[in-house]
Amino acid sequence: MSGVKNKSLNHQSTEWLRRHLKDPYVKQSQKDNYRSRAAYKLTEINKKFNIFTNVKSALDLGAAPGSWSQVMVNELKSPIKIVAIDLLDVEAIPGVEIYKGDFTSKKFSNHLKEIDPFDLIVSDISPNMTGHRQTDFLRSMEMLEEAFALTDCYLNKGGHFIAKYFRRGDLGQLLVNAKKKFTKVSSFKPNASRKNSSEIYLVCYQKK
Ligand SMILES: C[S@@+](CC[C@H](N)C(=O)[O-])C[C@H]1O[C@@H](n2cnc3c(N)ncnc32)[C@H](O)[C@@H]1O
Repeated sequence: MSGVKNKSLNHQSTEWLRRHLKDPYVKQSQKDNYRSRAAYKLTEINKKFNIFTNVKSALDLGAAPGSWSQVMVNELKSPIKIVAIDLLDVEAIPGVEIYKGDFTSKKFSNHLKEIDPFDLIVSDISPNMTGHRQTDFLRSMEMLEEAFALTDCYLNKGGHFIAKYFRRGDLGQLLVNAKKKFTKVSSFKPNASRKNSSEIYLVCYQKK
């Protein structure tokens, strides 16, 4: 790697570290024992949309390092069942069934067929980004569509679907389908989501 590139990477990592250490959500997550600041995105979504009421089971897609599952373990009233999946390892969380793999794989879909549907499906999936705006939008749409498709068979009536997407294009037909399938559909950017990130959450409330 050239010296100039190296210098710029070092500068970027120092910047990231400086911002990370000053971040109030990072400090709060350390106090609350959450594995990541992302925990507060889900707690904010719940504060605004009340998605945890009467929820007894949840599916957490793209769960690593595990803070959304931790939030659900803390906030949902037991007995609960939480299933979490990620391509990466997720350290054990008491009360959560963890799978390592691709949520779009045949293997995982076979597993879902064997268990009861959920009251809540959340997806904080971030596909690997290339930096190319259109390609990244298409990848994130593909993941969103795959996650949304799970609501056909694996989300109970009255259940909710929450998923991250990137605000770089139009949700198109997916939004039309969501509005047909759910009582209320909104997009929401929690304060905990960084201002310079184009991520936003699709909140589909109460499956009809
Ligand atoms: C932003 S992180 C999730 C953070 C998590 N909500 C938390 O609170 O700890 C996004 C995750 O999506 C996972 N991911 C991306 N594509 C995936 C796929 N096809 N199947 C399962 N996980 C995937 C990544 O490995 C990454 O860990």
